[in-house]
Amino acid sequence: LTDRTAFRDEVLRLAEERDAVILAHNYQVPEIQDIAHHVGDSLQLSRLAAEVPQSTIVFCGVHFMAETAKILSPDKTVLIPDAAAGCSLADSLTAEQLRAWKAENPGAVVVSYVNTTAAVKAETDICCTSSNAVDVVASIPAEQTVLFGPDQFLGAHVRRILGRDTIKVWGGECHVHAGINGAELAAKAEAEPDAELYVHPECGCATSALYLASAGAVPGEKVKILSTGDMVKAAESAQRKGSRAPVLVATEIGMIHQLRKAAPSVDFRAVNDRASCRYMKMITPEKLLRSLREGTDEVTVDPVVAEKARASVERMIAIGT
Ligand code: 13P
Ligand code: SF4
Repeated sequence: LTDRTAFRDEVLRLAEERDAVILAHNYQVPEIQDIAHHVGDSLQLSRLAAEVPQSTIVFCGVHFMAETAKILSPDKTVLIPDAAAGCSLADSLTAEQLRAWKAENPGAVVVSYVNTTAAVKAETDICCTSSNAVDVVASIPAEQTVLFGPDQFLGAHVRRILGRDTIKVWGGECHVHAGINGAELAAKAEAEPDAELYVHPECGCATSALYLASAGAVPGEKVKILSTGDMVKAAESAQRKGSRAPVLVATEIGMIHQLRKAAPSVDFRAVNDRASCRYMKMITPEKLLRSLREGTDEVTVDPVVAEKARASVERMIAIGT
């Protein structure tokens, strides 16, 4: 406890000295979540990055998130405690691949998930996150061809909700979410008939969850396809209503920490407790301390690329709740 208190005091002192705000994604390790000034999903953190008054942002998340913060706030210093914290989903679509895809589909509107590099964002018309992907695509006329990338499962979710066959989806995936499979989810749901299901739309099992509901194996109202921020809101609502139903959570396991804080009386269980993102977990308390002490690792985005990417990111943060 003394160590933890000393760590906390030192981090907060250094942050103040540097005029820095610490932002942490919901998948960070609990020690980082507990010390951050703000914890949230990728949309909430992007909005905060654009608004916070501090001159430095320390981004405890993965590289594309810190890059997005830099795109939105080019005059601020953006630090990430380990610049090697990448993302397998962002790696699944390069700017060259996107340019070739656009050339095959002239006139199409490009919607890219925020889990992309700055170079991909620069080739994009509107970015989105899992919180607002449906709203972003709904803002485009239905007859317009949309190229949606890179996540195939989020793309399939948007197609399903909007019922549009004009949406073409790239075949990328996140190795963590794709690994949470439908058979595992079905077995857990069968063993826990009262459970609610919180499923992230990046999961390969999102389709299975909806299939279970349509087949009557799980009551439809119990299946919720949610971004990480919306999972926290659902947990807060369960707590307010005094719900006693356990919740099966299909996403990266870091999520469970915020859910338990939001609803201490609800029993949250991971569908797959090995679903841990090695990139998110590269941000450790030691590296956060070093980042604040030494000003490392500074995130830079080529100003020409950033300028092109900014419009698509600004459209993203303006859409949805
Ligand atoms: P959210 O946008 O729901 O926070 O999910 C982002 C994600 O997958 C980051 O890895
Ligand atoms: Fe990327 Fe998946 Fe890790 Fe999220 S959980 S940062 S999408 S690899």
